[in-house]
Parts: sequence; structure tokens; C-alpha cells
Amino acid sequence: MSKNKQIYNRNLIVAGLILFVAAITFPVWNYFMFSGEASTAPEIKLSEKALAAKECVQSKEYMKTEHMQLLNVWRDKVVREAKHTYESPNGKSYNMSLSSGENSCLGCHVDKAQFCDKCHTYASVTPYCWDCHIDPKEKK
Ligand code: HEC
Ligand code: HEC
Ligand code: HEC
Repeated sequence: MSKNKQIYNRNLIVAGLILFVAAITFPVWNYFMFSGEASTAPEIKLSEKALAAKECVQSKEYMKTEHMQLLNVWRDKVVREAKHTYESPNGKSYNMSLSSGENSCLGCHVDKAQFCDKCHTYASVTPYCWDCHIDPKEKK
């Protein structure tokens, strides 16, 4: 093989790899590029309870991109520091729990399937949390 041919082949492989990575991560960057506003994005329905509460534990913009990190912070506070109450920036108190307890994520977003799952399915993410935590819909 000539040197030029080798370089050509290498460029093809690199181009192929870039395409591959772009293809497998497409759902994630597609989601963030359109930040859920694109016509293809799922219609997320807020539960009656969430509608009544009007606001989340942080701003909608923050929650959209940071809710996973916030949940990790909540877990660490509960498990390592035995703290259970979260003070939101607007001075309200919430129950730091991934379960459906009153005033927690799923206590307010009571319809996990229509809210969390719908968005995750669209973004192709499958949080493993419910391997252990109880999905309120599964509780009899
Ligand atoms: C291997 C099992 C397991 C998995 C998987 C798991 N957790 Fe937990 N989690 C626990 C246990 C056990 C506790 C401690 C419960 C307690 O102290 O009441 C806990 C506590 C928590 C708490 C605070 C208390 C509560 O009841 O909610 C949060 C928040 C939390 N986990 C979030 C998460 C998130 C987010 C994920 C996924 C990214 C996750 N966990 C995955 C086992 C798990
Ligand atoms: C007391 C009710 C309540 C609690 C508790 C709550 N939320 Fe929210 N959440 C809302 C409301 C209301 C909105 C819509 C806010 C808006 O439109 O400004 C929202 C918005 C969101 C969004 C953005 C949705 C979108 O349209 O982009 C995410 C993600 C979210 N919440 C996740 C969570 C998670 C995770 C928790 C727990 C850490 C949580 N929420 C706790 C009421 C709540
Ligand atoms: C507006 C869309 C949207 C809504 C609504 C939403 N999520 Fe997410 N969630 C995402 C996206 C996108 C990711 C992946 C982000 C990433 O990989 O950085 C994610 C990731 C997560 C993760 C981390 C998963 C992992 O394996 O690291 C957890 C935990 C999580 N979401 C919990 C929730 C819970 C609980 C709710 C409902 C109360 C919820 N989410 C509602 C879009 C959403």
C-alpha cells in the first residue's frame, strides 16, 4: 500500500468513528440542542399536584439540565449526613427522597410514566434507580 493510500484509509476510519459516536449519542445531543422544545419532543404532562404547586424545587431551566446531579446531592445528604429536608432557593422545604413520600419528587410528580419516563424514553436514558427504589405505580 502506498503511503497516500494508508493515510486515506486512516482518514476513512476516523471519519467512520466520528459518525458512529455521533449516531449513538444522537438522542442526548438532539435532546439538549432543542431543549425539549422541538416539535418531535414529547409532550410532558404535569400532574394535578405539580400544577397546583406551580414551581419545582429549583427553576425549570435548572431542573431540566441538573435534576440528575441534584438527586445525587439529595442521596448523599440523606445517606451520609442523615439530613432529610431540602431548602429551595425560594425558601420552601422539601423531602429529599426519590420515593413517593409527601413533598418529594414523585410525591409531586405523581405520574412517573407521563413525566419522568416519557422524557427519558425520548432521550434514550434508563436511570437504574428503580432497580431498588419503588416506582409508585408498582406499589399496591
Ligand atoms: C442498589 C440499590 C440502589 C440503587 C440502584 C439506587 N439507590 Fe438510592 N438508595 C438506596 C438505599 C438503600 C438508600 C437508603 C435508604 C434510606 O436510608 O432510607 C437510598 C437512598 C436514596 C435517596 C435518599 C432517600 C430516599 O429514600 O430517596 C435518594 C435521593 C436516592 N437514593 C437516589 C437515587 C438515585 C437518583 C438513583 C439512581 C441514579 C439511586 N438512588 C439508585 C439504594 C439504591
Ligand atoms: C411540589 C411539587 C414538585 C416537587 C417536589 C418537584 N417538582 Fe419538578 N416540577 C414541578 C413543577 C410545577 C414543574 C414545572 C415548573 C415550571 O414550569 O416552571 C416542575 C418541573 C420539573 C422538570 C422540568 C420539566 C420540563 O418541562 O422540562 C424536571 C426535570 C423536574 N421537575 C424534576 C423533578 C425532580 C427530579 C424532583 C425531585 C428532586 C422534582 N422535580 C420535585 C413540581 C415539583
Ligand atoms: C424534560 C425531560 C426530563 C424529565 C421530565 C425528567 N428527566 Fe431525568 N433525565 C433527562 C435526561 C435528558 C437525562 C440524561 C442526562 C445525561 O445523561 O446527562 C436524565 C437523567 C436522569 C437521571 C440520571 C440517570 C443516570 O443513569 O445517570 C436520573 C436519576 C433522572 N433523570 C431522574 C428523573 C426523575 C426522578 C424524573 C421525574 C421526577 C425525571 N428524571 C424527569 C430528562 C428528563
